[in-house]
Amino acid sequence: MLLKVAIKPTYIIERFDSCGIYLVGDILRLISMSNSIIRVENLVKKFNSFEAVSDVSFEVFEGETFGFLGPNGAGKTTTINALVTIAKPTSGKAYLNGFNVVENPGDVRRSIGIVFQDPSLDERLTAIDNLQFHGIIYNIDKQTRNKNIATMLDMMKLTERQNDLVRTFSGGMKRRLEIARGLIHEPKVLFLDEPTIGLDPQTRNYIWTYIDRLKERTGLTIFLTTHYMDEAENCDRIAIIDEGKIIALDTPENLKKMVGENIITLKTEDNDKAKKEIQDKFGISLKQRADAIRLEVSDGEKFVPKLIKETTVNIDYISLWKPTLDDVFLKLTGRAIREEKADASEQMRQRSRMWIKRR
Ligand SMILES: Nc1ncnc2c1ncn2[C@@H]1O[C@H](COP(=O)(O)OP(=O)(O)OP(=O)(O)O)[C@@H](O)[C@H]1O
Ligand SMILES: [Mg+2]
Repeated sequence: MLLKVAIKPTYIIERFDSCGIYLVGDILRLISMSNSIIRVENLVKKFNSFEAVSDVSFEVFEGETFGFLGPNGAGKTTTINALVTIAKPTSGKAYLNGFNVVENPGDVRRSIGIVFQDPSLDERLTAIDNLQFHGIIYNIDKQTRNKNIATMLDMMKLTERQNDLVRTFSGGMKRRLEIARGLIHEPKVLFLDEPTIGLDPQTRNYIWTYIDRLKERTGLTIFLTTHYMDEAENCDRIAIIDEGKIIALDTPENLKKMVGENIITLKTEDNDKAKKEIQDKFGISLKQRADAIRLEVSDGEKFVPKLIKETTVNIDYISLWKPTLDDVFLKLTGRAIREEKADASEQMRQRSRMWIKRR
């Protein structure tokens, strides 16, 4: 009997139950995920004496969505710049699609597409002219260029607006056009540096729908940077980066397990007394942050009633959270990513102002 087992929306395994043989619809993708397409070994990037990237090593597998999650100035863009041959590493090695980024920059560039953190479309041109220009620079023959442009415009739902000037596009449309442009030359890896910064949640969801569709059709490897926790959740694996160093690298699920299953935050009329009581009765180590106590437990729903029953101090407030990636960052660094980020839309406004000034 033929069974269909959905592992992830993009992985459908077809299994013949009788003989136990797996006929895998998407098997190529699963197999290729064991092949490394990016390999970084002890990468260091210094600007004068300042070390922006400090001895970073990691691998990205073919077909994977790999994310760099970290606060402002963590070194995300600098690492990408080294991988895409924009910046020369101070030391260490990096290989992309088997090519050394310093020794074979041309081969690396042909293997990758990039959506830069800062807007990089020519707003005075139409959407299709931006795409054609990119295709010509990459020396793609006219027939392939036109075919790929039509496919990408269709996939990003921009066909109807292809002859409009980019300056008439919304922020989300511009970002989709940049993604389309990064794919015209059929790269193996697409770099997305903060792909949805400054966009509203609905538009961010749309962009992710397009990215998922793209991955289903092409098996592309995606390397993205973000500071949005929900965006990072879309990744197969995430490297958490802080002050130029990778401080954790795993699947989102495993990273969250590092924190513990649940987090309870508690405010009482006497936090010191409550803290001592909880430690004595439950043997749990606690953290005090500002005016609240923080506990890490595996079964929060069951623990909260017990906690209320056993604590003699009056409780003013109690909350139960499933851990997020923000909690993982907090556990690893003692700081929250969000506290350190400027408001995303404000960043976008600042960039727009810089852009207007430059012109
Ligand atoms: N060309 C440069 N010259 C000097 N310092 C630089 C240069 N480029 C980056 N830096 C510094 O390197 C550090 C890392 O910057 P980077 O742009 O990689 O951070 P990021 O993680 O991408 O941050 P963001 O989330 O704000 O985009 C920062 O302290 C930054 O000021
Ligand atoms: Mg950056």
